[in-house]
Order: sequence, then C-alpha cells, then structure tokens
Amino acid sequence: NWTMNDFIDMKVDDIRKEVGDKKVILGLSGGVDSSVTATLLHKAIGDQLTAIFVDHGMLRKDEGDQVMQALNKDLGVNIIRVNAQKRFLDKLKGVTDPEQKRKIIGKEFIEVFNEEAKKLKDVNFLAQGTLYTDVIESGTNTAQTIKSHHNVGGLPKDMHFKLIEPLRKLFKDEVRELGERLGIPHDLVWRQPFPGPGLGIRVLGEVTEDKLKIVRDSDAILREEIKKAGLQEKIWQYFTVLPGIRSVGVMGDGRTYDYTIGIRAVTSIDGMTADFAQIPWDVLGHISDRIVNEVDNVNRVVYDVTSKPPSTIEWE
Ligand code: XMP
Repeated sequence: NWTMNDFIDMKVDDIRKEVGDKKVILGLSGGVDSSVTATLLHKAIGDQLTAIFVDHGMLRKDEGDQVMQALNKDLGVNIIRVNAQKRFLDKLKGVTDPEQKRKIIGKEFIEVFNEEAKKLKDVNFLAQGTLYTDVIESGTNTAQTIKSHHNVGGLPKDMHFKLIEPLRKLFKDEVRELGERLGIPHDLVWRQPFPGPGLGIRVLGEVTEDKLKIVRDSDAILREEIKKAGLQEKIWQYFTVLPGIRSVGVMGDGRTYDYTIGIRAVTSIDGMTADFAQIPWDVLGHISDRIVNEVDNVNRVVYDVTSKPPSTIEWE
C-alpha cells in the first residue's frame, strides 16, 4: 500500500542524509527486526553497511543458513557471519539459572559483536532494530525484571557510535510488511517470535551441545508438521522444550530411560497473555511419533496445556 512505500522512500532519504559517506554497522541476530533493519539500510546506503551476524549456535535448525541465503546471497547485504557456538557454550557451562543464562548470552553477543566491530575502520554509526514496543517495555521496570530482553541498550562503551533506529516508530506487523516490501521472503518475515537467547532457554537448566541438538531436531519436526497441517499462521508460537527429566519407556524387548520433550503451542495477540493452542489430537499424535522415532534419546512427548498467566510462554 502507498503508506508503506512512502515510509520506505522517506526512511531511505533520511538515512542517506544522516549517514552521508560514513559507515554503519549492525548486529544481526537472525531475527526479523535486525534483518529488516539491515535490508532497509542496505537499500539506502549499500555497502556502507556492514552487518555482523553473531551465530550463537542456539538458532533453530537451518535458520542461520536461511538468513544468509535471503539477505546476503539474494539481496546483497554485506554480512560477516561469526560462528561463535563454542564460545557461547563455554560461557554457559554449569549455568542453570534462566536469568543468568539470558545475561551471559546477551553479554557474549555484545562482546563478539564488539570484537568484530573493532576490526572495521572508520565506523560512525550503529544501527539497531529497536521497535516501538521495545521502547515502551524497556521503559518500565516490570518488563525488565520479569525478563531481561537483550536487544535494547548494551551499547559498546568504549566505542562512540551514533545510533540509527529506523524501526523505532513501528509495530511488529508493520515491520513484517516492510520486510516483504524490501524483498525478504514471506516465510522469513512472518516467522513466529523467537527469543534472543534462542534455544538456550528451551534447554532447561544447563545448556549442552547434546541437549541443544535434541531440542533443535524435535523443534524442526514440530514446525514441519504444523506447516503441513496448515496451522502455521494460526498459532502465535510453537516450539519444543527439553525439561531435562528422564523417564522409563519400552523399545522392542528392552526398557529405555530417556528424555521427555515438551511441546508448547499458544495462541495470542501480543504475547502478553496467551492460551494453549487446541491442536487436533491426530496432528499431535503424529508429531509425537516422529519425535520419538527420529530424535535420539527421547522416549516421551508431553503437551503443555497451561495458559499465560499463570504460565509464561517460554518455560524459562
Ligand atoms: P514469556 O515467556 O515471558 O514470553 O511469556 C513472552 C514473549 O517474549 C519472548 N521472550 C523473549 N524474547 N528475549 C527475547 O528477545 C528473551 O529473553 C525472551 N524471553 C521471552 C517469548 O518468546 C514470547 O514471544
């Protein structure tokens, strides 16, 4: 529609005027907000933008590659991908507290980003995909203490960048529409919300490579089946969690003692409140069969039937 096209023209103009011939960096998380910001900036200033994609190893299956394909290969955004899984895992070793995990992941993200940023010369601007809702939520203490969202603040202290936040006045839906207009594939921009700490808060307790694999593989199966069932755009968020409990099962002639996977799927308007999604039993049954058969070390699948409140959407 005409308003979104006007918005793009206006922003491209603003960004060009503000940046001039200077350079801009941006921390790409793989999420919608930073992806759209990067693409908008690329449209305005091309290779004066360098996006640093910090892959913390806790993204969903193939997500990092999809982002690189869409933004870098297809749209030409200049991206440096840093595969930092090992660094993050080392820092998370032995850590079980959810808020502690969030802080460590957020801090490490900024550190990796800073190290890469220091290698680039003459950068004057830092772009961020801050949305209107981020601005509001971070202004209130409750949002901060309930869960520390790591995409606001945390600016490198020893670097003096001017901030560019072109999405600051937009809501999520508008950002998605903007993303599509800029040529990012529909599936990427309409992805369900995904937390910054990623699968790191879906492996409950200590995060290990083995546990990440279990949650990543089971999540991929869930997403595939939800899409096949045509439920993808009817459910706000759907994912698997690994609570870390093990229970007895039976396979062939023998007993097993393996992990339980929890499925979480909710409907919601804004994530502030939510109801558990009423996924048909046969779809759930099929997902359960596939997870138990295809993912090693899982012998049981349970479905979370609590709403928010009193539960949260995530398990951590
Ligand atoms: P909860 O679990 O609090 O989640 O009901 C509400 C929404 O926020 C997302 N979420 C996060 N997003 N960093 C983020 O960027 C986080 O640490 C975080 N924790 C929860 C969650 O996925 C849901 O969409």
